[in-house]
Amino acid sequence: MNLKDLYINFFVSKGHKQIPSAPVVPENDPSVLFNTAGMQPLIPYLMGASHPYGNRLCDYQKCIRTNDLDEIGDTYHHTFFEMLGNWSLGDYFKKEAITWSFEFLTQVLNIPVSRLGVTVFAGRDNIPRDDEAIEIWKSLGISEDRICPTVNDNFWQAGETGPCGPDTEMFYFRSDDPIPEKFDPEDDRWVEIWNDVFMSYNMKEDKTLEELPNKNVDTGMGVERVTAILEGVNDNYKSSIWSDVISKIEEISNKRYEDNEVSMRIIADHIRTSVFISADNAGIKPSNTDQGYILRRLIRRMVRHAKKLGIDIDSNWEYELASIIINKYKKYYSELEANENVVYDVLKNEKIKFSKTLEKGLREFEKVSNKDIDGQTAFHLFDTYGFPIELTMELALEKGLKVDIEGYKEKFKEHQELSRTASAGKFKGGLAGNSEVETKYHTATHLLNAALKIVVSPDCHQKGSNITDERMRFDFSCDHKLTEEEKEKTQELVNEWINEGLDVWVEEMKKEDAINSGAECMFIEKYPDIVTVYFIGNQEKIVSKELCGGPHVKNTREIGKFKIKKEEASSSGVRRIKAIIEE
Ligand code: ALA
Repeated sequence: MNLKDLYINFFVSKGHKQIPSAPVVPENDPSVLFNTAGMQPLIPYLMGASHPYGNRLCDYQKCIRTNDLDEIGDTYHHTFFEMLGNWSLGDYFKKEAITWSFEFLTQVLNIPVSRLGVTVFAGRDNIPRDDEAIEIWKSLGISEDRICPTVNDNFWQAGETGPCGPDTEMFYFRSDDPIPEKFDPEDDRWVEIWNDVFMSYNMKEDKTLEELPNKNVDTGMGVERVTAILEGVNDNYKSSIWSDVISKIEEISNKRYEDNEVSMRIIADHIRTSVFISADNAGIKPSNTDQGYILRRLIRRMVRHAKKLGIDIDSNWEYELASIIINKYKKYYSELEANENVVYDVLKNEKIKFSKTLEKGLREFEKVSNKDIDGQTAFHLFDTYGFPIELTMELALEKGLKVDIEGYKEKFKEHQELSRTASAGKFKGGLAGNSEVETKYHTATHLLNAALKIVVSPDCHQKGSNITDERMRFDFSCDHKLTEEEKEKTQELVNEWINEGLDVWVEEMKKEDAINSGAECMFIEKYPDIVTVYFIGNQEKIVSKELCGGPHVKNTREIGKFKIKKEEASSSGVRRIKAIIEE
């Protein structure tokens, strides 16, 4: 049995319900480009909302972290990775969490206690040292020498704000050297394998902490790293997760991994991440902003390294690699199979687009790289040859040259409006605010969805939405541009419902019953068997019934005045409404 199955079975045997992995592109959370941890889709529940599956959950979550894209090429960084996690939403706490972590590591994975070390929270500000965790570890047989309290590495938070708390991290001694008595987390022969976070605080905007309604547990274990450890390899890419992909790259390039580790790791990593991004139901395509830009960078960098290895770019090498990934993971993530052809098209189209100019661009780079690269040259490489700035930086680094990034950015701004979100620091990650205003917008989307069905056509269905605290965007199926009258009537109806002061309430139902009763839902297959349905109405009528995780206002009157600002085409058969709410 593989690690994922062992993990899920173990936690199911401890009373946990397995929840499906959320998509890599977060839904209704514009503050991050990708899910970066298992807890990310669970934030509303860590903050106190009740989860339809109960209060003991476990899963494997697809994650993408792009903050250290440049590190890819070493033995253990990956842009896409899978995170195993178990959660207690106000149910069990430290004792059970630590005891089960220990039991899983030593009894299920058979890791010898002699190879384990743990860090615990040493205390900071008003939060004391985690003596409870220390005592629990000791009682399980971890010696004092192997318990290391730290201040900064043992307080976990995903973003600037949101749920957070002290944690305890487990390390494995990954080396053939004699195992030292004393555990030192700074010694890189000790690798972190699992993190148990005792998530009992909310970090507010002003950086003060408030206690959460519940004491939660959030844990995270990296599948790639632990698999490598269990298989006794010191390079993740030598584990069974990667061996078939690496062998294929060796075969296609007719080169050996040992002589070309960096390029082969980059290709292997980037093809896997590109497959998962392009297979996501969000329909991301390579572009110059947001997730699309990451996808573009990944594909182009991979193509460049394939060329470096002497692979014939025009052959269908990317298809061969992508199909290995799809076949390996489709059992766990159904979108890979459902969107298989989309993935191949995305990879091929972007490859073709780039390969047309790659050769010339590389020649141009050779010409200009007798000195540091100025902003204008970097922009020229981007504009004319499609070299993302990061690719120019990588090429420059290989030659020991610098690139004037600021100069490049200025040139870029002159020519193109930089995506607002990217410049707002979205690449750095962060947490969904679910501010009061966003909550109002959230309820307004339900009203809009319902109003469109009455005013325009019962065939109008939500295709996507995006909310910030300044506006909402709502995509829906519709075969025509809305007339002025349709827009006006839709807006009027939403405002009428707001003014009526309709109640908003939530009920848990079987998915089947919810769908049969006509509740709206966007992606049926994505919901668990028990769902939460939000109702909007009063004793006389129900105007909206939708599967949704919330949060919502309690009464529509809280929303304010609803205004449609724009209606436009989004894609074929899909229209987009931009709207705002005013006090
Ligand atoms: N959320 C915690 C992490 O990502 C478990 O390490």
